[in-house]
Amino acid sequence: MLTPDRPEIITSEIEVVGYTQQMNPRDAAKLLIAGNLVLIEDYFRSGLRVLNQLKKILKKRVGDTFSDQRKFRKEYREASHKLLLRISNHRIDAKNSPRIGWLEILYPTVPNFLISFPSLQGLNSSWQWYKKGIYIEVLRRKIHPYYGTYFPTRFDHLELFKDWLSEYQGIKSSAVDVGVGSGVLSYLLLDSGFTRVFATDINPNAIIGVDQESKRLGWDDRLELRFGDLFADLSARVDLVVFNPPWMPATHELSSGIDRAIYYERDLFRRFFEQVSDYLLPEGRIALLFSNLSQVVEESDNPIWKELTESNKFYVEDRLEKSVKPSSKRTRRRDWRKDERVELWIIKPREEPVV
Ligand SMILES: C[S@@+](CC[C@H](N)C(=O)[O-])C[C@H]1O[C@@H](n2cnc3c(N)ncnc32)[C@H](O)[C@@H]1O
Repeated sequence: MLTPDRPEIITSEIEVVGYTQQMNPRDAAKLLIAGNLVLIEDYFRSGLRVLNQLKKILKKRVGDTFSDQRKFRKEYREASHKLLLRISNHRIDAKNSPRIGWLEILYPTVPNFLISFPSLQGLNSSWQWYKKGIYIEVLRRKIHPYYGTYFPTRFDHLELFKDWLSEYQGIKSSAVDVGVGSGVLSYLLLDSGFTRVFATDINPNAIIGVDQESKRLGWDDRLELRFGDLFADLSARVDLVVFNPPWMPATHELSSGIDRAIYYERDLFRRFFEQVSDYLLPEGRIALLFSNLSQVVEESDNPIWKELTESNKFYVEDRLEKSVKPSSKRTRRRDWRKDERVELWIIKPREEPVV
């Protein structure tokens, strides 16, 4: 059975400084910066006050450059995770705290522990999304993303894929969805009539979440999930391989979960193209979703194009694109979205794979 990734907790006896709203939040923030652990003992909102002060103090110390901002985020992350809340019987001790179902689901055998305030904020917002669900227009229903799993907040690439799928003339016996996330592409494939879909992800939470949701939706007899890298050693060959990979090149060491949904490691596309032919039936196709976002923002290469030209083992059967709707809010920064396009690459191997 898979174990979900979840925030770290403290179960041992440790030395903490207690904090209540009678005290000055600025003093508590300074204690955090000095490396002390501070435990909120009265209200949930006391923790918010301390974090506000922490932000103010650390912001004052840095300038406006990109590296200053990065330094600020690092210092804030380190200090803020030293601010703790106590959990008893899977509920936050502090008064007026939100109820977060993940505390029971993710730590079923550990009812009492300490956890950092920012971790709880992350769990809380994820719980709200999970409970309420997110309406996905192309599916005409809601999905309920599991904790720590990527879910779409923009939909242009999904519309592009759905339009292409509605015209798809190939065989629909089977498909692989690499990097299933919260399942949107797998559900689109099943909706469109694919008999069987195999879906993988390197994030265990994605596999657990889609497993539960597909059972709820009654898709589980047609959807087979596998935890692992890329094709996760599947033993099937399919008519269509779909992959909506991360869209930004990583310039930092990747952690798990959402980080790996947004940033790709240098060798991801090379490895994908080295392996994909082993999973395709003769006449099988690859559908890759992408965006020119990193080319617009960072002027980096398109990794799909780079791999195709270097390997020469594939050809582009079709390439569709769609402008991304510009954001409606006016921001001081330049709105990159205005130049952004999402792309759908339909690719086939040059030689038929040997079966
Ligand atoms: C941009 S998200 C797309 C999720 C979903 N398919 C969708 O379109 O909404 C990319 C997904 O690929 C997964 N992923 C990243 N690298 C992977 C790898 N090497 N093997 C399998 N999955 C990977 C991430 O965990 C994430 O769930």
